[in-house]
Amino acid sequence: MKEKFLLPVYRREGPVFVKGKGSFLWDKGGGCYLDLFPGWGVGILGHSHPRICRVIKDQSQSLIFLPNNLRHQWQPRLSKEIVKNAFGAKVFFANSGAEAIEAALKFSRLYGKGRRFEVISMSNSFHGRTFGALSATGQEKHKEAFKPLLPGCKQGKFNDFGDFRKKITKKTVAVLLELIQGEGGVNVADKQYIKALSNFCKVHDLLFIVDEVQTGMGRTGKMFCYEHYGVKPDIMVLSKGLGGGFPVSCMLVRNKIADIMGPGLHASTFGGNPLAARVSFEVFKVIKDENILVNVNRMSKYLFGRLGSFKKKFECIKEVRGMGLMIGLELSIKAKEIFERALKKKLIVNYTHENVLRIMPALNIKRKELDKGLDILEEIFERIQ
Ligand SMILES: Cc1ncc(COP(=O)(O)O)c(C=O)c1O
Repeated sequence: MKEKFLLPVYRREGPVFVKGKGSFLWDKGGGCYLDLFPGWGVGILGHSHPRICRVIKDQSQSLIFLPNNLRHQWQPRLSKEIVKNAFGAKVFFANSGAEAIEAALKFSRLYGKGRRFEVISMSNSFHGRTFGALSATGQEKHKEAFKPLLPGCKQGKFNDFGDFRKKITKKTVAVLLELIQGEGGVNVADKQYIKALSNFCKVHDLLFIVDEVQTGMGRTGKMFCYEHYGVKPDIMVLSKGLGGGFPVSCMLVRNKIADIMGPGLHASTFGGNPLAARVSFEVFKVIKDENILVNVNRMSKYLFGRLGSFKKKFECIKEVRGMGLMIGLELSIKAKEIFERALKKKLIVNYTHENVLRIMPALNIKRKELDKGLDILEEIFERIQ
């Protein structure tokens, strides 16, 4: 299909897709694909979950949009649900991951009262493409062409507390990080490191901000990834799975400090609109009703087990890492080649950093679907070996 009227910012692969259901996608010609990376982490309930479709239809027929100076029931109901599942906080709604990161960066500026404004994020991190989020992102390749970026954004080495301490100055106000770096290659933060960071933030009055855009909403086997670490953030940012495919994001700010962002200091026209908020509210209900977290933990154990046996069998697999259903295979060969071969066999996976193959299936995936995908991957690795 010709795309000459589109700004060429995406490298698109494969056929034109017209339909999705659960962990499957169909192309124009009726070809059926198994999707082990639905929506780049967005499709936590798979494609077109019937309950999500139902509330989109229902809500769109009653009220799609309302500006944020008027009240509707779904924003308060959703924020209560998010907080119930997370920690005592107040919620600001936006539409994308980067926008919610911007909100967190602006909140940090307010918290620093003009005296402190530096935010330390991590090497290899990814926080989005808007100027603030990009400035916090720890990957030069995304930033180079857009300098000068936001002042006060620096990066410490991921998983290196000593390096983090070296970056601290009197002007530092916050630390921002992903507990598992997604785009950075599925790198899992060490428990000790996170505990040390969180303690340091408490003692030195720094905001501890976690970007759970990818890791949140059950992806890692708990509702939010910070729960694995025995710490509580001051600010948490969510998007991707929050709407089960519908665009919505949010920033949670711990109660104690939340009120410094008062009326007029921040806003989003579409943030928390009735349709998005209702859909997201339904996502929380589905996660509960369908025991999604139990499935994540079961399928994760199974997936890591089979991938572990692949590692023993295939020399090109250097490491299998991740948590829950967020998995990366570090390869000694180009991961793009595996991605391309898989696509030819009607399997969708993903790759990042040249050599990391990524699998992030729907959280309600069935074992036989995983097996189907793993059988295809096994066959590909056998051929390549
Ligand atoms: C951890 C993380 N933060 C932020 C973002 C930015 O989200 P968006 O593309 O919705 O702006 C992403 C996107 O992949 C992400 O993975």
